[in-house]
Amino acid sequence: NDRAVGIHDLSFRTGSLVLTHAELSKHTGASVAKYHKGLGQQAMSLPAADEDIVTMAADAAAPIIERHGTDRICTLLFATETSIDQSKAAGVYVHSLLNLPSNIRVVELKQACYGATAALQFAAALVQREPEQQVLVLASDIACYDLDSPGEATQGAAAVAMLVSVDPSLVEINTPSGLYTHDVMDFWRPNYRATALVNGKKSMAAYLAAVEGAWHDYQAREGLSIEKIRTVCYHQPFTRMAFKAHRHLLDTAGVEADATATDHAIAPTTHYNEIIGNSYTASLYLALASLLDAEDELDAETLGFFSYGSGSVAEFFTGRVVPGYRAQLRTTAHLEAISRRRDIDYNAYRRVHTQPLPDDGSQHRLPHQTQGSFRLSGMEDHQRIYEAVH
Ligand code: CAA
Repeated sequence: NDRAVGIHDLSFRTGSLVLTHAELSKHTGASVAKYHKGLGQQAMSLPAADEDIVTMAADAAAPIIERHGTDRICTLLFATETSIDQSKAAGVYVHSLLNLPSNIRVVELKQACYGATAALQFAAALVQREPEQQVLVLASDIACYDLDSPGEATQGAAAVAMLVSVDPSLVEINTPSGLYTHDVMDFWRPNYRATALVNGKKSMAAYLAAVEGAWHDYQAREGLSIEKIRTVCYHQPFTRMAFKAHRHLLDTAGVEADATATDHAIAPTTHYNEIIGNSYTASLYLALASLLDAEDELDAETLGFFSYGSGSVAEFFTGRVVPGYRAQLRTTAHLEAISRRRDIDYNAYRRVHTQPLPDDGSQHRLPHQTQGSFRLSGMEDHQRIYEAVH
């Protein structure tokens, strides 16, 4: 079967609270220019008390189910590094909240921020094998670092839902992929911790080494030359990282890089991430959403994708934007998910930073705060209780 396979629909949602970097800078002592220019971040989304990776993912996926129905969905892949359970896949809760049929396989995937790209590639392979089937790929994360740590300014929260099918309406996924794995302790979160541990400078160096490694492998597998690629969507732990990565890629590919042209190519991929913050697995696909929503002349253009997951695994691949893609976009809903967030001040932020559920599994009710369609209403007998908001 040689039909094109790729992203047929894409929808994202984010947390219901927002802290601006202008407000953060008043309390951390850092200049706001460091955040706005140095990191390329303006604001960060935070989850409300009754939101988590499940509610955000269900909220992102609901419009896709509404548009395409469930008849062809055979598999739901849920990528996250903000897992809520060591055993049960978060996707099973989403399956239930969206009333999906029982004849579907559901599984969770993890390799830091790379997990969603693994899910996308596995989905493409499944669909290639059985072209009548579709796969729902969900990527949902809450990036949370210690208070007063350097990583704090790069927090964020979002979920992306993508429907993968043959003859996609948005982006066809090409082969080959350039792959890179290297064992490095740049960023990790032991099971006993709610916040990530990170060696910031080491993580940036590891990311750039992975750009180089994945690109070399992509070329060795006879991938496209850099000139054929209009722009590259990068994983964006903070948006400045994408600009640094692109300069590094052009250097690696032996292209004389004009700084203005580089900035011009990358800027349209950063609009959502700069006001949402890091969303780990979802970040790369928010970069794609930003580009598709912002640019109106991408018909038949080839885009590059660079996915990086600390620890580390990386992949470079390309996709062809399907002519007519604009008719399928969800730009208005995306902007609405961002604008409906409730602005909180620094003191409120400190209070909500980590809102743990009781670790003895005792009964606990959560206030209704979410702006989304699903909520975590509380905990009972060691079980999370979810509900649709009517
Ligand atoms: N005006 C303009 N720019 C300023 C400035 C000012 N007043 N003050 C500082 N800056 C610039 C700095 O020059 C620097 O830019 P360059 O790197 O281009 O020189 C930038 O602002 C950041 O300043 P610092 O390096 O001093 O910042 P920091 O020590 O606070 O650390 C960080 C930055 C390492 C990214 C930290 O936020 C961090 O640890 N973040 C979490 C880890 C992370 O995001 N790593 C990225 C790669 S790993 C990955 O991608 C996986 C993942 O999702 C985590």
